Amino acid sequence: NPPNLQMEESSGLRQANCRAKGGSCGFKVAILGAAGGIGQPLAMLMKMNPLVSVLHLYDVVNAPGVTADISHMDTSAVVRGFLGQKELENALIGMDLVIIPAGVPRKPGMTRDDLFNINAGICCPNAIVNVISNPVNSTVPIAAEVFKKAGTYDPKRLLGVTMLDVVRANTFVAEVLGIDPREVDVPVVGGHAGVTILPLLSQVKPPCSFTPEETDYLTNRIQNGGTEVVEAKAGAGSATLSMAYAAVKFADACLRGLRGDAGVVECTFVASQVTELPFFASKVRLGRTGIEEIYPLGPLNESERVGLEKTKKELAASIEKGISFVKT
Ligand code: NAD
Ligand code: LMR
Repeated sequence: NPPNLQMEESSGLRQANCRAKGGSCGFKVAILGAAGGIGQPLAMLMKMNPLVSVLHLYDVVNAPGVTADISHMDTSAVVRGFLGQKELENALIGMDLVIIPAGVPRKPGMTRDDLFNINAGICCPNAIVNVISNPVNSTVPIAAEVFKKAGTYDPKRLLGVTMLDVVRANTFVAEVLGIDPREVDVPVVGGHAGVTILPLLSQVKPPCSFTPEETDYLTNRIQNGGTEVVEAKAGAGSATLSMAYAAVKFADACLRGLRGDAGVVECTFVASQVTELPFFASKVRLGRTGIEEIYPLGPLNESERVGLEKTKKELAASIEKGISFVKT
């Protein structure tokens, strides 16, 4: 990467100068698992993001090829590739945001929990960390324990990406309402698997109401959106393109928060006191230090209260599984 290295250094200087002047500058972003089904379109979209000045692409395979390809795009972010464990540390040094879509996806008939033993060993660095690797309900607690062991745990900077559930919810609700999905905002709380995905349809914006049949249809479709894709891909993997879109939407929110933009609010799975569980997904405000405020769930209707109890039961087991994986 010699030319890119020089460009990166000068980009670093530009960034430092720009920050010293209080300007809005680009951020350094690393993607771990950048050669994968999610990683490649995610890398492409991050290269197009004007908030990104340096993009590090790390994988255990194919990182040089993906890097060469992406680096030809005429956008300003400087791209460098990192291949294999020995280059991991260099991939992470100085990063503002680390996005992790590393690991294997599901095949039909598998649950996200079946991925646990394969994906749990993948390590996590410092900076703001966006965990995409499944099962998110366990990989975020695992990452928290790993960071604790390393003495670097900052709960405000470790975020499980549940944005795809929000993206799906917005799409499916907009279809039912017959409006543009860009006008819709559905809070989705809890976690990222089956019944732990809890859409709060009573809090949809713009304000609207659903029949009991619509509520059942929407809740089921949102909770099973991942399985819908896994079955349609018939063994060729799980959601990659919509996930890359959702990951970029979420990463962009993190970067706008880091830049100091006001009112950046998204749903994400984080260390939380919103319920009695140690982790929970809900709306949070993102800022210069990561998570600056975690919002309560707000008023729930009867079916959401029933859903919340199911969510908590399953989520408690997945969280415990992650924590004890590291402890034992
Ligand atoms: P994929 O198999 O296409 O890509 C995974 C990539 O990770 C591969 O390039 C592989 O080489 C790389 N990898 C494996 N081990 C690694 C390691 N130790 N370090 C760095 N890279 C490593 O899979 P995919 O479809 O991109 O899915 C990736 C993960 O994202 C899966 O666990 C999947 O279940 C999950 N996922 C999460 C969501 C979500 O909403 N959070 C949505 C879709 C998929
Ligand atoms: C999804 O929701 O699409 C992902 O978690 C992948 C999966 O296994 O369903």
